[in-house]
Amino acid sequence: MSGGSAGRDWIATRGTALRGELVVPGDKSVSHRAIMLASLADGVSRVEGFLEGEDARATEAIFRRLGVRIDVPGEGSRVIHGVGIDGLRAADGPLDCGNAGTGMRLLAGLLAGQAFDSVLVGDASLSRRPMRRVTVPLARMGARIDTDEGGLPPLRIQGGNILQGIDFESGIASAQVKSAMLLAGLYARGTTTVREPHPTRDYTERMLLALGWPIEFSPGFARLEGGHRLQARDILVPADFSSAAFFIVAASLVPGSEVLLRRVGMNPRRTGLLHVLRAMGADIREANPGEQGGEPVCDLHVRHAPLRGIEVPQAHVAEMIDEFPALFVAAACASGATVVRGAAELRVKESDRIATMATGLRALGVQVDETPDGATIHGGGALHGGHVDSHGDHRIAMAFAIAAQLAEGDVRIGDIANVATSFPGFDTLARGAGFGLAMA
Ligand code: S3P
Repeated sequence: MSGGSAGRDWIATRGTALRGELVVPGDKSVSHRAIMLASLADGVSRVEGFLEGEDARATEAIFRRLGVRIDVPGEGSRVIHGVGIDGLRAADGPLDCGNAGTGMRLLAGLLAGQAFDSVLVGDASLSRRPMRRVTVPLARMGARIDTDEGGLPPLRIQGGNILQGIDFESGIASAQVKSAMLLAGLYARGTTTVREPHPTRDYTERMLLALGWPIEFSPGFARLEGGHRLQARDILVPADFSSAAFFIVAASLVPGSEVLLRRVGMNPRRTGLLHVLRAMGADIREANPGEQGGEPVCDLHVRHAPLRGIEVPQAHVAEMIDEFPALFVAAACASGATVVRGAAELRVKESDRIATMATGLRALGVQVDETPDGATIHGGGALHGGHVDSHGDHRIAMAFAIAAQLAEGDVRIGDIANVATSFPGFDTLARGAGFGLAMA
């Protein structure tokens, strides 16, 4: 992906059976949080396995502008000279979150409690994403954040307000919303509690605890109080399950495939796709379980197996929210129908992922019935070549690169430059494993 510019396309064609040992890059969620929390800690933290993707680097650049020294001793390494919980200083202009919803929403909470004003901006995709989900509950804590009409970025965050902890029952299962509230809670008087309708990834909670901030949490629940400090600590970032997911699905689908994915992050709030693929008949084995940076990791051994459609259990939706583009492709190649419900959040990701996947799959000959909160994908027919538009959405582009490995003709995938936001080097790794994939 290096050097890709906006509007670049891929031509993806059927390759060979997928083979080999693959190491995917570091976790995007953990990389964002490592920069943020190590910056606020007392002392120097070393981060290894940092994702060299545009999203995490945007957050890194923001913290430099907020006065944090961050050294880069080598690829995937950062040395962060923490400034302490009250040590950030005003930047000299708007802070650019790039494509990253995680960066913008978490920073909304973190910056609402500072003594100075900040402005958060993003790219065209991020500028269309809803921010009221964080600005409304943060306002209940006393934050003052202006948005553009419709609750859209930029976020103009007023500093110098005294925040008050609240007990917040979130209507949306969103780790970004939960994390924004908890990060504001660091600066609030009293106790901040967040309750979720379905448990979401708990990296903010785990990392706060690892850096010494007292916090109580369990699936769907988190509580902390303001007024403590964070201690610097080295952070080892596990490989991103969501990046591994593309190879898990591809190896399951392409006949003759057998791949080993090394040291993949297995946080239980992230691995919903494994439950669903196994229920569809996938052959995925876990080996060498261990721990890396306080997170469970293991090697995943994936072999081709015929898949059958299922109704995706709603209990797993939040735990696989980033994996639906890949799952839609698995469903298109599975026998029978796959039904997705309760996944309306997909409509407000980097693109409307229900619509972009449905449109793209139809262009390859797959019947997809859309609903407001999901879709029914009628799998098992042949996929043909065609032209699909990723709408600048990294995960849509990678999902269609998989679909092309099963298609009977070339698939042109439009607007792939944003793959670099989460998975730099995807095309090189995929080609090495057996994918047919080239720049147009
Ligand atoms: C993320 C949470 C998820 C996910 C995103 C990363 C995070 O978003 O889609 O890629 O790091 O907290 P929501 O929490 O809004 O669902």
